[in-house]
Amino acid sequence: MGTFFNPVTIHVEKLTVLQQVLDKMPLKAAKVLLLTRGGNFNDSSESAELKSCLQHYEVQQVDIEISNPTVDDLFALFNQTKEFDFDCIVGIGGGSVLDLSKSLAAIKGMLIESSEQLLTIIEQKDYVNNEQTTPWIGIPTTSGTGSELTCWATIWHKKQGIKLSIDHPSLYAYAAIIDYTLTASLPISITVSTALDALCHATEAYWSRKSNDISRVYAKEAIKRITQHLELLIETPNHLQYRREIALASMYAGLAFSNTRTTACHSISYPLTMELGVSHGVAASLTLAKVLAINFESIPEKQQLLEAFGHRTFDEIQQWIESVQERAGFATRLVQYKGTHESIDRIVENAFTKGRMDNNPVVLTETDVKNILISIYE
Ligand SMILES: [Fe+2]
Repeated sequence: MGTFFNPVTIHVEKLTVLQQVLDKMPLKAAKVLLLTRGGNFNDSSESAELKSCLQHYEVQQVDIEISNPTVDDLFALFNQTKEFDFDCIVGIGGGSVLDLSKSLAAIKGMLIESSEQLLTIIEQKDYVNNEQTTPWIGIPTTSGTGSELTCWATIWHKKQGIKLSIDHPSLYAYAAIIDYTLTASLPISITVSTALDALCHATEAYWSRKSNDISRVYAKEAIKRITQHLELLIETPNHLQYRREIALASMYAGLAFSNTRTTACHSISYPLTMELGVSHGVAASLTLAKVLAINFESIPEKQQLLEAFGHRTFDEIQQWIESVQERAGFATRLVQYKGTHESIDRIVENAFTKGRMDNNPVVLTETDVKNILISIYE
């Protein structure tokens, strides 16, 4: 039972399919804004391939060197690109590049004179009425964010210490190109943190209040592929077949949570990232097995979820997550991230993100969240 909607055309193909995708756009683009990942992108083979695909278009390229983009970062990018008056954005990179592509598409052509004004536009969702929104195409170079398949983007406000969202059904990508070979040279740390992000997207989609028969099928596909292939990929990072499995897992997870959104683990992860600097996917996965234990009795088809993980108990799942975190060089305890009892109190205070925590099947109190955090403290 349930309703499922996702309008993104997904190409599981080589990057070079971009040329056909652009050529077949109903409103033919002439000026393409290209947002690329940092890390010497111009020296990569995919850069040469992209340039060939875009040879008939006027292109402005901006390398995005930052992660976890802020309102100030988005405003700077808006100013840097507004003269170009592009009619399509192509984003190639990780979650930050894709979220910036989506956010810039949302505010394109608006009259924005300061970062403060942009903050108000985001908070009041004024971009919803923007008639100059442009299509954007997402080409992920990590396997996990899912931004190429969702209609929301995360923008941070460092001064206020909060996570903001740019979010509207008109912001789905025009197309997503899943070329798993782009992830071949990713370091293991990013491979694991993004795969754990996808694992949380899928698991939280499975138990979300908006979960349905269709999203749970996608979620199970994602969980199985990650739990069966991530350790193999850690052992043999150049193995393209394992890269393909994790890329497909990320795609299935993206489809699943595009319709359900996330829940308690992501909600708690935002202040963990803001307060302690824990990378996004690791932050969400730190509490996954703990929240699973709390939610379990409320989960439809709960045995199938455990089967997808390939484990019998919550403790086994916790140990598996900690083991892959450790093998990728991540700490598994908050004290190792320099967490203190005071910082735990602040994390608890900021852990109740609207649309995320209230999407958890079980209502969690501040005491519940604090107990979860203490259980992973040392
Ligand atoms: Fe996430």
